[in-house]
Amino acid sequence: MTSKSGFVTGLILLGLLVLGVGTETRLGGNTLTSVGSQTLKFRVPPKISFGKRALAIRKGEALFEDSSPIAGNRLSCASCHLDDGTDANVLPLVGVASAFPRMSQRYHARLNLSQRINWCVMNSLAGKWLEPGNPELNDLTRYLDWISVGYPKNVPLPWLKRPVLVSDKRYFHSGRGEELYRSDCAYCHGPKGQGSTHGFLAPPLWGPDSYTRHASLDRQAMLAAFIQKAMPAVAMHGIRPGGLSVPDTQSLAAFILRHNRPAG
Ligand code: HEC
Ligand code: HEC
Repeated sequence: MTSKSGFVTGLILLGLLVLGVGTETRLGGNTLTSVGSQTLKFRVPPKISFGKRALAIRKGEALFEDSSPIAGNRLSCASCHLDDGTDANVLPLVGVASAFPRMSQRYHARLNLSQRINWCVMNSLAGKWLEPGNPELNDLTRYLDWISVGYPKNVPLPWLKRPVLVSDKRYFHSGRGEELYRSDCAYCHGPKGQGSTHGFLAPPLWGPDSYTRHASLDRQAMLAAFIQKAMPAVAMHGIRPGGLSVPDTQSLAAFILRHNRPAG
């Protein structure tokens, strides 16, 4: 770099600092996004307070955990967005209301938050599209607004980026996936992927009560990333969440996606 371009770069950087354009820094493993003097950090949302809207927020939270009134399968929002969307590692939704409306590459449209919720309702919960004004949709939106309190609009929140593992055909084998499934997953999710309701309550992974072919988790790279971060939910033979290798999670994802599920 010549000293002139170095000087220009310096000026631009100074300009960005003065303008307060967001920069990202990594500190002690926590991703921080700073905007001017503000520092946006992932934080577990405050307890739901008392007041007019608290009832709706609580109803939304309850619906997040038991989605049976709006689901066509046996999953809930919390089956995938762990700890009601507040687990920083597994599909967190903290701050998500501030990120909408926004352009969706997947759906080729500008979506508002209600529409984005609806895509998960239809594809991941195999449910019906909820029209504006629908009470369940309102409660879910209020809940997501609540866990987004304090985050300004349109500032990228790094934890909302989706983890995706790169798919590499050389490194996965659904035979190996089946073997791992039997040893580390079937205990909770059932030998036929049907889920279980006794002992550990675990949702179905395939078959008529699982997510549809249009769900985000129907993509191998996304499913593998989910499994890598979140499963097995408790240690199985010494393997904890985060303990499976990338090829093993790819093999598990390939094995799971080989089975039938609702077309959606
Ligand atoms: C089967 C798993 C699954 C279920 C069930 C599910 N989701 Fe999702 N959801 C995902 C995945 C995976 C993504 C990320 C998709 C992507 O980025 O392509 C996502 C994304 C979202 C987003 C957008 C997040 C962002 O940062 O852009 C919202 C909002 C959301 N889900 C809400 C919900 C709600 C509310 C429910 C229940 C009504 C629900 N989801 C049920 C898997 C699920
Ligand atoms: C101790 C029981 C347990 C074990 C073992 C387990 N899971 Fe899960 N799994 C759960 C529970 C419970 C959920 C719902 C989310 C939550 O509450 O953590 C879940 C959710 C999931 C989901 C998303 C929801 C769905 O229905 O599709 C996938 C995918 C998944 N598990 C895959 C696996 C795989 C692959 C393994 C083996 C490596 C595994 N799980 C082992 C209990 C378990």
